[in-house]
Amino acid sequence: MPTSQPIFFLSPYSCFIRGGLLFIYLFFSVITASAQSESTERAPFVTTPLEVVQRMLLLAKTGPGDVVFDLGSGDGRIPIAAATMGARGVGLELDPALVQLSQRLALEAGVAQRTEFRVQDVLQADLSSASVVTVFLLPSLMSRLMPKLMTELRPGARVVTHAFYFPSWKPDQMEQVAVQARHYGVGDSAQIMLWIVPMNLRGRYLAQDGFGQWQFTVHQNFQEIEIEGSLNGQPVQFESARLQGTQVRWQAEVMRDGQRVTVQFEAEALAQGGLQGRVLSEKSAQPFFAKRQP
Ligand SMILES: C[S@@+](CC[C@H](N)C(=O)[O-])C[C@H]1O[C@@H](n2cnc3c(N)ncnc32)[C@H](O)[C@@H]1O
Repeated sequence: MPTSQPIFFLSPYSCFIRGGLLFIYLFFSVITASAQSESTERAPFVTTPLEVVQRMLLLAKTGPGDVVFDLGSGDGRIPIAAATMGARGVGLELDPALVQLSQRLALEAGVAQRTEFRVQDVLQADLSSASVVTVFLLPSLMSRLMPKLMTELRPGARVVTHAFYFPSWKPDQMEQVAVQARHYGVGDSAQIMLWIVPMNLRGRYLAQDGFGQWQFTVHQNFQEIEIEGSLNGQPVQFESARLQGTQVRWQAEVMRDGQRVTVQFEAEALAQGGLQGRVLSEKSAQPFFAKRQP
């Protein structure tokens, strides 16, 4: 059953705020009270249970070839677990003693070669080489990380959060993971969320295909998009628009030979700014290219 939402979290996902998160929020509120005077950005050291670490990395489909950054890496358990899955693990942590501990634990786990731990403030770090980012930090830091993740990570990069989330963004997936044994600072279940970094599609587009000339504008908030526009100067209803990384799809109702037809668009957002793919109707499949307007 949902529990009451801490006033801090003004989010449409309140129904997912369960006992575990309320517990963790209260726990963090108490133990950060003294740290606040030192730095408002400092999240306390509380570890993610190992079974939750595994689920976080699986949710991100972590594998060899991935570079996993844990922001605020504590004792290094997430980069170490990522390295045991064949990925490269990088931990960024303010506390030098925890960085030393992480290096020792990575050595003991036999993954020192595939891990790196740095004493660094996550807000100052360059995250551009990460394909997966994991985060278990306080809400004040989550908000400050949002523009950084959008500008530095590649479209398609996966971010997995534990307990806290990004206000005003909608996660791509979420899971509630049962915590097997008593774990310091964590309730009996952990909430994890996957966020796939989208391409920035905001803007006006122009396209010509077998139906005629399309003009449309894309509005975007993280991976949620809305499209409005016209075909041959007539307003068109665009529906079911969906963006994941660089893959975008939507549908539109158009008139053809006096009949109402639903057409589906599937396209790849190109780095240089256009949309390339195909437009499908019951009778045809045609190539589609939309040029972004300056
Ligand atoms: C809640 S713990 C999470 C530890 C680990 N990621 C895990 O999930 O087990 C947060 C960690 O972030 C570190 N931290 C807090 N603020 C930070 C910042 N601005 N930059 C880097 N590390 C930070 C803290 O020292 C602490 O070890």
